[in-house]
Amino acid sequence: MTGTVLVTYGTTNGSTAEIAEAVAGILRKGGLTVESCPARSVRSVVPYDAVVVGGGLYAGRWHKDARRFVRRHRDVLAQRPVWFFSSGPLGDSIAGRDVPPLRGVRRAMTRLDARGHITFGGCLKEGAKGRIAKMIVSSGKGGDFRDFGAIEAWAQGIADALTHA
Ligand SMILES: Cc1cc2nc3c(=O)[nH]c(=O)nc-3n(C[C@H](O)[C@H](O)[C@H](O)COP(=O)(O)O)c2cc1C
Repeated sequence: MTGTVLVTYGTTNGSTAEIAEAVAGILRKGGLTVESCPARSVRSVVPYDAVVVGGGLYAGRWHKDARRFVRRHRDVLAQRPVWFFSSGPLGDSIAGRDVPPLRGVRRAMTRLDARGHITFGGCLKEGAKGRIAKMIVSSGKGGDFRDFGAIEAWAQGIADALTHA
């Protein structure tokens, strides 16, 4: 593929954006042209030839910006190769485990015939927005549970799929 890949994300505290940047970096290393930006700032997906959408998980749902992005652009997304990722679980419970997409994400995957989905561990640190976030952090349950090795390996799979397409 010689076109441009969009890597876009819904984030509240920034950790999903950092995952998206890591994904974008691997795609660039694979020789692809990549744009990366928040899902709420994307006006059109027509210029892109493939799309990766990520969302933080909040109260059992994908981040609202990721949900709105998929809803707003579904007609064009259905004509592009699309991958999804979620980032959320705090703690080591998901290490080495395959966490399935939430129901809403699964439905969107079916509608768009998405190529894949993965759940990465999340991150919540001092300074996170919101009362509940502050409670989680002050109770000692915060931390950074993202596995950048796994993130890069997943992104490499996308790079391979697009460059060998
Ligand atoms: C209010 C709140 C609700 C959350 N709900 C979930 C959840 O339902 N499932 C989950 O796996 N993680 C949940 N998390 C953890 C976040 O998904 C995690 O911190 C994620 O990395 C946040 O992404 P962001 O930094 O891009 O906003 C929650 C965190 C907060 C603060």
